[in-house]
Formats: sequence, structure tokens, C-alpha cells
Amino acid sequence: MREASPAGALLRWYDSRARELPWRVPPAARRRGVRPDPYRVWLSEIMLQQTTVAVVRHRFPRFVDLWPTVRALAAAPEGQVMAAWAGLGYYARARNLLKCARLVADAHGGRFPETREGLIALPGIGPYTAAAIAAIAFDRPETVVDGNVERIMARYFAVSEPLETVKPELARLAATLTPRERPGDYAQALMDLGATVCTPRAPDCAACPLGAGCRALAGGCAAELPRRLPKAAKPLRRGIAYVARRVDGAWLLERRPARGLLGGMLGWPCSDWGREPRESPPLAADWADTGAEVSHVFTHFRLRLSVRVALVRGRPTPRVGSFVAGSDFRPAALPSVMRKVFEVARPHLQEGPGGEDRGN
Ligand code: ADE
Repeated sequence: MREASPAGALLRWYDSRARELPWRVPPAARRRGVRPDPYRVWLSEIMLQQTTVAVVRHRFPRFVDLWPTVRALAAAPEGQVMAAWAGLGYYARARNLLKCARLVADAHGGRFPETREGLIALPGIGPYTAAAIAAIAFDRPETVVDGNVERIMARYFAVSEPLETVKPELARLAATLTPRERPGDYAQALMDLGATVCTPRAPDCAACPLGAGCRALAGGCAAELPRRLPKAAKPLRRGIAYVARRVDGAWLLERRPARGLLGGMLGWPCSDWGREPRESPPLAADWADTGAEVSHVFTHFRLRLSVRVALVRGRPTPRVGSFVAGSDFRPAALPSVMRKVFEVARPHLQEGPGGEDRGN
């Protein structure tokens, strides 16, 4: 049977192919009148802002076992929530999560606002998350637009301009398909379609419920859409990283400022990162150049770090950072650029056969 509308075709597909997800009310139950719990919908969307479905589907159940309602979460000690959040993205999200739970519990009587406008006023909820919660939890006909939905629309309507220049148009086109019936299931069906069928590199067009109306499929160009602007080369910055180890095995580390790049993370003291970095060793020592460079690519620039090492006798006070006992030092806790620096420096600072660690 040919579907009259793309939304109808997608919903029919969803009825038999919906992914089973712990925060989701399956389509059959939804039809029987089971309503999603807005708390669970909100919590899942916040977790999914930064973490994949594959991770969240395993972490979500434990979180709701600990705090089954928004009031329970609002009453939880911050430290416990932070600990349960570990591995689910930046701590700022967990802090906003708690702020939002407390606001809903205190100022909204424990009930989430039902509209996009009401939801977007809450901490940690942006346009995407507000639309997703309004649609999924309250069946509002909101259009949920993320990268997956942009890709589906670029293909369905064969929009060949670069994605960076047509996002508003793709959002407008997406809104033309959003149905007034079952908008919550429809939003989730689009998410499932983007994750399992209309995938970035090798879309499974033969399995697609939207195939009949898809202009990219008809034109044989689905895998090439959406197009992107050629990437501008990232500028190169240089810097110097200083790895100092005391003869008792302690390492000189610096906690980076909370805001900015690698905010709040541990690392090796560094010079400025720029065109011509200036030497700025964190303490007076016999610094040696390893001759090696570490390369790392950040979102907006490439970084090349020279690595200097020093074995330090006595207990000098550093100008920057502080010494961390060898037994407390966890290289795995460093951000990856700093781990790369460690791998370069380590062979130069091994405990030698003379037993440097014992102080001789
Ligand atoms: N990605 C973001 N929100 C989602 C949801 N509710 N279900 C599946 N994937 C998602």
C-alpha cells in the first residue's frame, strides 16, 4: 500500500522498526494510551546532547533507579549526581541538570512545562532539546532538527547547496513534513531513520520508508548529500611543554583554568600557544630539549608542542602548578594532547639503574 504522506510512511515504518530504548514508550504502548514520563524524556535528551545512544542506553537505567523522579533528583546531593554523571559529558551539563531539576521541583510544582517556549526557559535546554521534549513528552507538533534530520531533508528534497548555507531552509522543509498526528512518534522515527537507514556514508535506500518520494534517491545522489563547504585549513600554533619530574618520582602538573580550552583539566605547564612561543619554564632547572614534537588538532587550530624535560633535585617551589606524587599520577586522566606529551617525555625521565627515585 502506498502511503499518502511521507509522515504516514515513516510512522508505519516506526510501528514495526522502532528501536527499543529505555526512555522510550514503544509505539504500540503509545497507541494504547501509555504516556511518556516527561522526566525520563528530559533526562534522556540531556544525556543525548553529548553522548551516543549506544552509551546512554546503558547508563540511563542506573540513573533513574537512583533518582526515579524529578523531585528525587532535585533533592540529591550534588556530589552524588556528579559521580553518577561521570563519563556522560562535561560536568557543566550535570550542574545544569541539577539546576533544572531543582527549578522544576521548586518553581513548577514538579511538573515540566509542556510547551517549547516554557521548556527553553529552563537551564540546559536549547532549541533542539525543547522541541524534542515538547514533541516526545507532550505530543506537540514541534519540528526537531539536528544533523541527522538535516541530512534526511537534504536528501529527501535534493538540496544540493552546502549544508553550512542552507540550515534554515532545511529546518523549514523539515517543518513542512511534521504531522499533527503522533508528532512525538514522528520525531523519534526521524531519529531512528537517521541512525539506522539514512546514514551519512552508505544510506540503505532500499530499506527506506521515504524512498518513494526521495528526490536524491531518484537522482542517484543520496550518498553525496548533504554537500559541505571545502574545509578551510586550520591555523598552526606552536608551544613548548615542560615536563619536570622530581627524583622522588613526583611530576609537576598544572590544573588549567576552568574556562577555555581543556578547561579544568590537568596538564603539563606550557608556554603560550602562538606563532613564536616564548620560553617560560615553570621552575629553574636543567631543562633538556627532547627534540621531539607533539602534534594535535583542536576544533579551530593545529598545535605543535616542543617537549622539554627536567629531572629536579630537592624540593623547589614551582612558579606554576604543583608536584603530584608518582603514585597519585594517572596519565589516563590527562587530556589526549597532554598524554602525547607524556609519552614523548617519559623515556627521558625513567628511573635509571642508579635509582634516581631513591635520591642518589
Ligand atoms: N537522539 C537525541 N534524542 C534522541 C532520542 N530521544 N531517541 C533517540 N536518539 C536520540
